[in-house]
Amino acid sequence: MRILITGAKGMLASDIQRVISEKEEVIPLSKQELDITDSRKVMETICSLKPDIVIHCAAFTNVDQCELEPDKAYLVNTVGTWAVASACARIGASLVYISTDYVFDGAKGAPYIEVDEPNPLNVYGKSKLGGEKVVLMNLQRFFIVRTAGLYGANGKNFVTTILTRAREGKPLGVVADQVVSPTYTLDLARAIAELIYSPYYGIYHITNQGEVSWHRFAQEILRLSGLDVPVKPITSSEWPSPARRPLYSALRSLSWEHFGFTPLRNWQEALSDFLSQIGGV
Ligand SMILES: NC(=O)c1ccc[n+]([C@@H]2O[C@H](COP(=O)([O-])OP(=O)(O)OC[C@H]3O[C@@H](n4cnc5c(N)ncnc54)[C@H](OP(=O)(O)O)[C@@H]3O)[C@@H](O)[C@H]2O)c1
Repeated sequence: MRILITGAKGMLASDIQRVISEKEEVIPLSKQELDITDSRKVMETICSLKPDIVIHCAAFTNVDQCELEPDKAYLVNTVGTWAVASACARIGASLVYISTDYVFDGAKGAPYIEVDEPNPLNVYGKSKLGGEKVVLMNLQRFFIVRTAGLYGANGKNFVTTILTRAREGKPLGVVADQVVSPTYTLDLARAIAELIYSPYYGIYHITNQGEVSWHRFAQEILRLSGLDVPVKPITSSEWPSPARRPLYSALRSLSWEHFGFTPLRNWQEALSDFLSQIGGV
């Protein structure tokens, strides 16, 4: 199969490219090569390259910056996805769209399943939900993959930020009242590499198993890295940021389990593996 990846220089896209190119022909297109806000170019490029599948990783992912630049957030995350989905519809390609736990408001207090009602609290979540809607409107053969708290070897992320700050001797204060399912991009990439062969199209929640507060996650990063550095627990209100975030956004996958895929390993195991890969343990 021929698989086109948008936003190919991103953190998740880099791992997807690595995993999928072991088996399939991959066409990675960076923002410089294909800006998804240029809808005419998106249509021309996808129609001329004729991929069987598009894995759409391109997004405006800075949650606070999306709040400050809502037009850009909707342009990239919703309208850009619309262009990609329309081009897929034109050539009969299937689409993998990466979405987020931030489509939920956190009020449920138990892991969200695929059919729970989204109610995003911030512009990033709204613009990504907009992306889901345009996929649903344009295509029948799609996978919407909601994931959360990504970290990996090819981008700045929470894990590397905590390690850098700790090594620089900077004080660490981390929110203790937001619970997520942090996920290693390599595990997610391997999951997506399985999912693309499935005939069961639809919405999937895919994260490492389990849930943890950002504070406890930071403590575990430091413990596994042998860094004896204190982390002050703080509340969301003590960490003023432009975007509101859900207090609880752990995800559970009914579809992944039901359709016979192997659940991803738990977050501690994945974190430990990542730290040893980057030489942090
Ligand atoms: N990171 C997380 O914790 C998280 C959680 C849940 C879901 N997700 C979703 O997972 C996907 C991958 O995230 P990631 O963490 O790997 O993000 P990332 O590293 O920021 O990758 C996104 C890529 O998209 C590119 N991009 C931005 N605007 C573009 C445009 N107009 N046209 C084409 N490419 C564009 C970015 O390029 P520049 O960097 O040059 O702008 C970047 O290379 C995204 O859909 C994100 O919404 C992420």
